[in-house]
Amino acid sequence: MQSLLQNASEILRENDLGTYTVPTHGLYPFQWNWDSCLTALGQAYFDEERAWREIETLFAHQWEDGMVPHIIFHKEDDGYFPGPDVWATGRDVPTSGITQPAVAGFAIKRLFDRAKDRELADAKARALLPKVKAWHDWFFANRDPQGTGLVAILHPWESGRDNSVDWDAAFERVPTDGVLPFIRRDLQHADADHRPTQAQYERYIWLVQLFRSLDWDNSKLHDASPFQVVDPGFNGILLRSCMDLADLADALGEVEVAESSRAQAGKGIAAMDTLWSDAHGQYLCQDRVLGELIDSPSVGGLLAAFAQIPSERAAIIAERITKIAELVNYLVPSHDPASSDYDGKRYWRGPAWLIVNYMISDGLSRAGQTAVAQRIAQSSVKLIEQSGFAEYYDPKSGEPCGGTRFTWTAAMVIEFISQTQLE
Ligand code: DGY
Repeated sequence: MQSLLQNASEILRENDLGTYTVPTHGLYPFQWNWDSCLTALGQAYFDEERAWREIETLFAHQWEDGMVPHIIFHKEDDGYFPGPDVWATGRDVPTSGITQPAVAGFAIKRLFDRAKDRELADAKARALLPKVKAWHDWFFANRDPQGTGLVAILHPWESGRDNSVDWDAAFERVPTDGVLPFIRRDLQHADADHRPTQAQYERYIWLVQLFRSLDWDNSKLHDASPFQVVDPGFNGILLRSCMDLADLADALGEVEVAESSRAQAGKGIAAMDTLWSDAHGQYLCQDRVLGELIDSPSVGGLLAAFAQIPSERAAIIAERITKIAELVNYLVPSHDPASSDYDGKRYWRGPAWLIVNYMISDGLSRAGQTAVAQRIAQSSVKLIEQSGFAEYYDPKSGEPCGGTRFTWTAAMVIEFISQTQLE
């Protein structure tokens, strides 16, 4: 365990560019939103100041309307597509124009709770609190215009689960005509069989071009997008962050932020029940354009357990993961291994990801499902012992896939080893 911790810390340092950390050199040469927030948890073990700075850097590029972009292009690198010229968001330091799972509220609460340097934590959390709140408010104002309590993603990249089976049917509505020619750079760094397909990339870019044609005006994008999906995993992360922000605000004496954040979390968690599927024993995505649930049992519906869902729902999710475990050697596959759409090596259509494992395990543990939570933690560490610090893994063979020496995988290993009593 000691050598795993040491290797993990080395990876965090190797990918650290001073004020932000790249997910891995080559494949992802900029700052990614949820990567950074989860990375900070690992950094805090050896440098609390550095951990706070990771999240501060991200929020220094928050848009005026409150959105926090999914990529900050701090410096030029033509090894990535789509770069700043494709996004054309007109920012001084270029950013993408879409967002990513809102895990910052959870991350800063966790940094704050564990901080040894209390004075530093108090100052940093106090400064970040209104910024995270503004991001949450942005979500509910712009991505939930009907006030349902749940927000929609408008681009698969926002979910972080880029090529999940969940998006396939809704993606049929996204055309590809008018997509400008492009050269993918990801395939220079990773195996094409482990990445999204060319057809998916064309649709990803079509959506970017649509939003760009609307000048990235967030008050227009939701209704204009043919792709509006309510993802239980994405909402679970946001609602957990709202709840954590409420608790953090209480600790800092910020009563209004606490009340408003708690109301957002409560309303969202109640609304989440509309996504529950008895047949699958988990939550499902909803296609907001059609107003229908999407019959795709992915890890998004398990990840919802990161929020404070009702305990009977958490118990059924724990049972479901136990069943899934009979079909794989490593938890938690990103898609149901019994489904014909399952593809164990292709990014989010089957592979296991440590960040998702960490959030599911954390949520289940809080809900009292400690045996399954512990099993996920053990499986995660075993995977790294056997296959190194990859971006994701084939849940049957354990084969490492995607990028190597991966930052958030390293951060999660530090978290699992330090926080869980592993045998
Ligand atoms: C990528 O480029 O694969 C990212 O996941 C998009 O953010």
